Amino acid sequence: MADQVGFVTMGDAKGQIGELPSIGVGMLGYAFMGKAHANAYRKLPYIMWPPPAVPRLVAIAGRNESAVQEAARRYGFEGYYTDWRQLVADPRVQLFDNGGPNDAHAEPCIAAAEAGKHIICEKPLGRTAAEAKQMLDAVQKAGVKHACAFNYRFVPAIRQARQLIEQGALGQIYHFRAVYLQEWIADPSFPMVWRLRKENAGSGVLGDLGAHIIDLARYLVGEPKAVNGMLKTFINERPLGDGSGKTGTVDVDDAFLAMVEFENGAIGTLEASRFATGRKNHQVIEINGSKGSLVFNLERLNELDVHLNDAGPREVQGFSNVLVTESYHPFWSNWWPHGHIIGWEHTFVHELHHLIDAIVNDKPIDPHGATFVDGYRAAVICDAIELSSRENGARVAIEY
Ligand SMILES: NC(=O)c1ccc[n+]([C@@H]2O[C@H](COP(=O)([O-])OP(=O)(O)OC[C@H]3O[C@@H](n4cnc5c(N)ncnc54)[C@H](O)[C@@H]3O)[C@@H](O)[C@H]2O)c1
Repeated sequence: MADQVGFVTMGDAKGQIGELPSIGVGMLGYAFMGKAHANAYRKLPYIMWPPPAVPRLVAIAGRNESAVQEAARRYGFEGYYTDWRQLVADPRVQLFDNGGPNDAHAEPCIAAAEAGKHIICEKPLGRTAAEAKQMLDAVQKAGVKHACAFNYRFVPAIRQARQLIEQGALGQIYHFRAVYLQEWIADPSFPMVWRLRKENAGSGVLGDLGAHIIDLARYLVGEPKAVNGMLKTFINERPLGDGSGKTGTVDVDDAFLAMVEFENGAIGTLEASRFATGRKNHQVIEINGSKGSLVFNLERLNELDVHLNDAGPREVQGFSNVLVTESYHPFWSNWWPHGHIIGWEHTFVHELHHLIDAIVNDKPIDPHGATFVDGYRAAVICDAIELSSRENGARVAIEY
């Protein structure tokens, strides 16, 4: 099957499949990430067939009873709790999935680890590196499996990019260039939300979008040695949006820039903003090496632009657009005939399948899945960029 190209039915019988085990899932939060994760738990048993275990959606925790009850019904959870402590104490829950805001990551994840649950927590793992370290210590002490939801590692084109780099197809890596640009708070009348408060979010776009490209830098190129950073807040006061006419203070960054020197000698730039008018979810990565380059654009996630110095006659040298949808491309044999593209939500199917396989079959989550180690390291790098910005762009060494 792996080498089959063109039309494949994906409906082949896989033979003697016995009874499938199940794994009890308890989820915190039912909004954006809750929906993305619930969608993936529902899909993964039949798309990633045969699944290592069928997710049993035990309960969702939220604070508002009628809303969490409706979410449980909508996403197919058996029940709900209005306090995450009840969820963590539920013996049916084997995997705790934390899709809450950043200030609801540490305490519930640490409690879940102490209760012996395996955990996946959304990024950024903690609001600071110190908080992320407490979470890492807790899961390591408990000996549970732990994943940090850096889902872009599970885009087929990103996994393919990593394979190309590992195979040496790009040669020695010189440059990593990443931007992650959105526009959703550019309007000054956009109200205060938890993402704009340091107390809730830890940082602004740095920990939100920056953490993703920091993780991809580590995944694709390697460990950073040092960073220089600049953070900027463009709009400091915003309406509370509660009808009171009052405003609240934005105490996190709206945009950041960083220079990175990697341990392997490569250099990089990172930039993220929520003020990039016209940009929706523009995550673009370019990597240049001695033998070639690649470009990835999240809004074209089935594609990878690849240039190889010695591919073909010089008259046609340049970037080729590769549709990463062949059955021999990463993850693809589970999906559709080539060219029948997949979307952003399917990265979560791959991610949660990988996690459940690791739990059920006692496999490591790293190097392809991100763990709390990766969540902690991304937080160290975020803190270093913030420190550099406070010190007028001074170079800050990365020490884990
Ligand atoms: N991997 C990604 O691509 C990605 C994308 C968006 C967000 N995220 C991360 O996911 C997390 C959640 O973000 P979101 O966009 O889903 O936020 P959101 O505001 O849409 O949803 C947060 C949910 O948590 C609930 N909640 C808040 N406090 C709670 C508490 N104390 N107990 C129980 N429930 C509580 C809210 O009611 C809501 O259901 C954040 O850490 C964010 O950084 C990751």
